[in-house]
Amino acid sequence: MGESVVLALGGVDLTIEEGEFLSITGASGSGKSTLMHIIGCLDRPTSGAVEFQGRMVSAMNERQLAQIRNQHVGFVFQTFNLINRTTALDNVCVPLMYTRRSFSRKTARKALERVGLGPRASHKPSEMSGGECQRVAIARAIVNNPSLLLADEPTGNLDSWTSEQIIKTFHELRAGGITVVLVTHEMDIAVQADRMIHMRDGRIVEDAVVDENRRVEVLALTRNAHERMAREEPAASTQSPSARLASGA
Ligand SMILES: Nc1ncnc2c1ncn2[C@@H]1O[C@H](COP(=O)(O)OP(=O)(O)O)[C@@H](O)[C@H]1O
Ligand SMILES: [Mg+2]
Repeated sequence: MGESVVLALGGVDLTIEEGEFLSITGASGSGKSTLMHIIGCLDRPTSGAVEFQGRMVSAMNERQLAQIRNQHVGFVFQTFNLINRTTALDNVCVPLMYTRRSFSRKTARKALERVGLGPRASHKPSEMSGGECQRVAIARAIVNNPSLLLADEPTGNLDSWTSEQIIKTFHELRAGGITVVLVTHEMDIAVQADRMIHMRDGRIVEDAVVDENRRVEVLALTRNAHERMAREEPAASTQSPSARLASGA
């Protein structure tokens, strides 16, 4: 059998400015997560150069990459990835254990307060809603004061209202100086960033500032599609309207 090589990304040229709120969108398999892993120094490209705050990370070894990640990058995922048997506060303490010889739980408490979860610090994930769990994950991602927050489909498991709240939190964090990169296949989520790149087959096919007209247009289209779906096929929706919009269906 011949070997096949999948080119996950090709010819990508991207600069993200400090303090930006950027969304990366595109169909499943278009390379969004691969690109996010490279931006977040989780992976190095097989060819090409990657710079992070003026340092050539594509030439770094695993240990150096891990150091950059621990100090400068926070990650949020679709499935929260929390430890279920322990409290929100303990979950947020985890990154501190890796990066500091001694740490104060106050630091973790402050991170929880920043995402509006101060009063829930002693609750376990099993006692929280999906939106609250994602907030705990965001608090964990920012507890080391990263300059960059990367979120891969963070609203994928959440309803529309809760998704809105999560996006609001990202805006607040960005206002506090964190650069936010949000990966999503949902157009109504993607247009809430300031700049949006669209990927297809491992390439960036669009890179544009999201102007208010486009945001309003996409949100209205999504709302209409939601309403139509609720009328026509109450129980049979397997794909969200925004995913349909994104795929042109
Ligand atoms: N570990 C892997 N091994 C081989 N191919 C992979 C791996 N991860 C991703 N790919 C391939 O790379 C492409 C981009 O994947 P990915 O970045 O996960 O896309 P997206 O996040 O947009 O769904 C796809 O064709 C996928 O099948
Ligand atoms: Mg992905």
